[in-house]
Amino acid sequence: MSESPELQGKVALVTGASSGIGAATARLLVEKGAVVAAVARRKDLLDQLGGVEAHSVDLSDPLQAQQLAANVEDAHGRVDILVNNAAVRVDGAIDQVSVEDLDSSFQLNALTPFVLAGRLLPGMKERGEGVIANVVAPKVSAGRKGMGVYAASKAALESTTQTLRQEAGGSSGVAVFAFDPGWVKTDLAPDGTDTPEAAAERLVAHLEAGKGSREILS
Ligand SMILES: NC(=O)c1ccc[n+]([C@@H]2O[C@H](COP(=O)([O-])OP(=O)(O)OC[C@H]3O[C@@H](n4cnc5c(N)ncnc54)[C@H](OP(=O)(O)O)[C@@H]3O)[C@@H](O)[C@H]2O)c1
Repeated sequence: MSESPELQGKVALVTGASSGIGAATARLLVEKGAVVAAVARRKDLLDQLGGVEAHSVDLSDPLQAQQLAANVEDAHGRVDILVNNAAVRVDGAIDQVSVEDLDSSFQLNALTPFVLAGRLLPGMKERGEGVIANVVAPKVSAGRKGMGVYAASKAALESTTQTLRQEAGGSSGVAVFAFDPGWVKTDLAPDGTDTPEAAAERLVAHLEAGKGSREILS
């Protein structure tokens, strides 16, 4: 894999980079010459990625997320690419899910992407360039038995993506899109059939193209 003129030297913040699709995306971005701030709780796994700046942050706390965005932007002077990928899948019928799980998973899956994008979008607009990609799950977001919390949080993320796309403005140079990775074998989806590397290849190709989309990209 070679460096990419579009991604060379770009500063990318990738959440949920310690495993699965996020880890594969962070690795590929490094190969393509980007400067990657890789975020998750498990620092040992982030360190194993190699070549990234590892940030161990609990993103189920949106205030920590906001501070992280400020720290990365201050350290590098900008963030060019934001990949909102971190999520947890809480399983269980709606009458079985604890309020704690409901709260923390919504914070992580839906509120933190909102907060990170809100903090980083102004700088992108000012510089007239940037890409925000939100990793969604359209196969479940309309509602799914036994997965209601996860489904609703991902529906909220789809909604946020469309608002962000409109607020970024068509001619601002800031691209916003939602990405559907498909059915990928990870800790979150052990029965998945695709590999994280294949999903990351598709996602990074969209980041490279840097085009916003009303449709969910896959
Ligand atoms: N796999 C699929 O088939 C599929 C399908 C549709 C959509 N997706 C989406 O793809 C994205 C990546 O999921 P994946 O399948 O690659 O699952 P995964 O391997 O479980 O990755 C989830 C990532 O989120 C991080 N994370 C979880 N809780 C966190 C917290 N409180 N603070 C910070 N980071 C946290 C995890 O790191 P730590 O535990 O180290 O914090 C991990 O890096 C998710 O948004 C998921 O909804 C996946």
